[in-house]
Amino acid sequence: MVFSKAKTPAPTASELDMTRIPAHVAIIMDGNGRWAKARHLPRVAGHQQGMQTVKKVTIAASDLGVKVLTLYAFSTENWKRPSTEVNFLMQLPIKFFDTFVPDLVKNNVRVMVMGDQAALPAATQAVVQKAIADTAHCTGMVLNFALNYGSRDELVRASQQLARQVKAGDLQPEEITAQTMAAALMTAPLGDLADPDLLIRTSGEERLSNFMLWQLAYSEFVFVDQHWPDFDGESLKQAIATFQGRHRRFGGLKNQ
Ligand code: IPE
Ligand code: IPE
Ligand code: MG
Repeated sequence: MVFSKAKTPAPTASELDMTRIPAHVAIIMDGNGRWAKARHLPRVAGHQQGMQTVKKVTIAASDLGVKVLTLYAFSTENWKRPSTEVNFLMQLPIKFFDTFVPDLVKNNVRVMVMGDQAALPAATQAVVQKAIADTAHCTGMVLNFALNYGSRDELVRASQQLARQVKAGDLQPEEITAQTMAAALMTAPLGDLADPDLLIRTSGEERLSNFMLWQLAYSEFVFVDQHWPDFDGESLKQAIATFQGRHRRFGGLKNQ
């Protein structure tokens, strides 16, 4: 007879170990369109509601003591969408930062952005740069937006940068290491915190969609069925509880 292994029940949010909060949480915020469709609303209504979730989850993460919260807001492939939707998404940072920067400052949250900013509309670039400047003095959580970000684009750019250094004679090919590679990535400003400890994707999809391929090498993945507009602080705590129930080994052995 075959016995199926009893599954340990997932820890609940109320049992969170505050000494083991993941330092870097990354989220693929997915399902805005389906959230809207289920309510017979246009897709952009989902993005609008998703922006409210970003605000709630940012404060919740900061309150929990997360050090870096990276949010995938727009991928290098999202330009394929209809222009009305792309235009709406390009306006969202303007709405977001215009209303939310005072709360970010109050919570000591510093804004950072990764991705190809030069391709964004000028007004979007301006508001993003202003939010970075207005929160530059904040010393608490880093809120890192992946905006027009694609991991392959990031890796290509990093390779080009290293190749230029080699060509200039500033770097030997054998001096290219995991460290020099990491230093050439868009997460370099995060230093020791560049690699997410926990990756969450909402909406039931279980793929990376070109997100942080290098940095997620040893991250714990938690996939949740909720669409992003339905995600909240409690969902975040639940995902962290699941993370705390995992055993990370980094290639070594469990009790080393
Ligand atoms: C995530 O929601 C937001 C972005 C990708 C910009 P989607 O817009 O992908 O929503 P679904 O996946 O179509 O439901
Ligand atoms: C990933 O979601 C990008 C963001 C959340 C910004 P997508 O909705 O674009 O991913 P696919 O197309 O379902 O893989
Ligand atoms: Mg999607």
